[in-house]
Amino acid sequence: MSETVFDLIVLGAGPGGYVAALAAARAGMKVAVVEKQTVGGTCLGRGCIPTKTMLHTAGIYQSAKEGGPIGIVSDGLSVDMNALQDYKNETVQTLSDGIKGQFKKAKVSLFTGSGTILSTGEEKQVEVNGEILRAGRLLIATGSEPSKLPVPGIDLPGVLTSDELLDNRQSLRSLTIIGGGVIGMEFACLYAALGASVTVIEALDRILAGLDKEFGQNLKMILKGQGVTIHTAAMLKEIREDVSGENAAEPLVCLFEEKGQLQEARSEKVLVAVGRRSFTEGLFDASLAEESLPKMERGKILVDDHFETSVPGVFAIGDVIPGIQLAHVASAQGENAVCYMLGKEPAIDISVVPSCVYTEPEIASVGLTLQQAKDQGMDAQQLRYVMSANGKTVLTRQPRGFMRLVAEKGSGRILGAQLMCARATDMIGEFASAIVNGYRAQDMAKAIRPHPTFNEAVAEMLREFSAE
Ligand code: NAI
Repeated sequence: MSETVFDLIVLGAGPGGYVAALAAARAGMKVAVVEKQTVGGTCLGRGCIPTKTMLHTAGIYQSAKEGGPIGIVSDGLSVDMNALQDYKNETVQTLSDGIKGQFKKAKVSLFTGSGTILSTGEEKQVEVNGEILRAGRLLIATGSEPSKLPVPGIDLPGVLTSDELLDNRQSLRSLTIIGGGVIGMEFACLYAALGASVTVIEALDRILAGLDKEFGQNLKMILKGQGVTIHTAAMLKEIREDVSGENAAEPLVCLFEEKGQLQEARSEKVLVAVGRRSFTEGLFDASLAEESLPKMERGKILVDDHFETSVPGVFAIGDVIPGIQLAHVASAQGENAVCYMLGKEPAIDISVVPSCVYTEPEIASVGLTLQQAKDQGMDAQQLRYVMSANGKTVLTRQPRGFMRLVAEKGSGRILGAQLMCARATDMIGEFASAIVNGYRAQDMAKAIRPHPTFNEAVAEMLREFSAE
């Protein structure tokens, strides 16, 4: 058995692990990364990148289909699902190879296989493919996997997780989505645009419940206009298979309770998108004593403010710890964890987290809403700009959209922003930067935004600001 000694072993090469590994290598540490699947993790292999790649095709297809008024003749237009899958896989491969290239350049050693932690003592040990890696520090960044629902029929063929549906090469006639959260709504937009009949079953009283109410309300209306059926306050009870007669093409029946009534939705496939749970399966060797294991709560590894677990020298970041499950949060935590390992001040302010939903139109928010600011006892005001007055929005025939800015009355200090419009996910960074740097609305208003752009709407909104 060969043995290699490192300063840091990172378990998991997702956006948390690979960013941390590169930051540590830049700081002069000898780093090993252990990854069992795609370098790039869930985000690159089974999450952000594949969904956004497929949404890119779906968006072009939908625009072309509805392109008559802008001069596009789209007779005979269709989506080749095989070509779409190939394009998605090629994109993932290109980006994954890019990270491997960065590892090589930074002299980060990549070990492909499942890592098992054998020791968390002063010298940490990880076994991968029979090889023992040793290091002074460990960083656990093993991410998450789709949660399963404990309802009858959940294991029927055709009942899929987002991981499985992302590999689908068939045109779907119909899709029922369990869960109207971020994953559920992005897939609803994707498959509605690809021409499937989509039904969403959400247990809470609104979709996108983790975000401001107006987002969910607007999106529900827009999707309804595209033929998507959304049931809220609806609880899935069971999934049945019925292949009799003409039902064979749409064999899955979701039974759900809405307003005390049992209802059913029939479809070809079912997507279950009810959250993700931390992944730590097989991570710790069974021989490890209780006191050698990091403290965990509800399957998540607990960490302190420096991302260190209850075991000295063992750190954890990303979806495997409690908190927000987002790729850019994991990356920021990874950068900061390395700073803490080196006794340096953290590089990134992780108290301000932009969140984005890649629906049509896009949704993005950061900081506080007006209500949240008021609930925290702040004297705040809100600016609201309706995108129908923006030139680029009109010329590209975007659906209804808006921008909101929340600022402190008097000082003008920016507290938050909520955008629902084209390129919202690209524009939210400007507001995150403003909040982190303590800018006031007057400071943001100083910059010229180019014309004609969606971004120009920010300047137009800021013009309405008055410090009174
Ligand atoms: P989620 O927590 O956002 O939404 C799950 C939804 O399922 C909830 O609204 C919940 O009420 C509902 N639900 C649970 N049990 C149900 C039942 N029995 N019947 C009907 N509805 C039920 O989780 P999701 O969408 O699976 O996403 C997982 C994580 O991945 C989230 O933290 C999300 O932020 C992240 N993510 C972020 C993306 C982005 O930033 N664009 C894209 C995709 C995922």
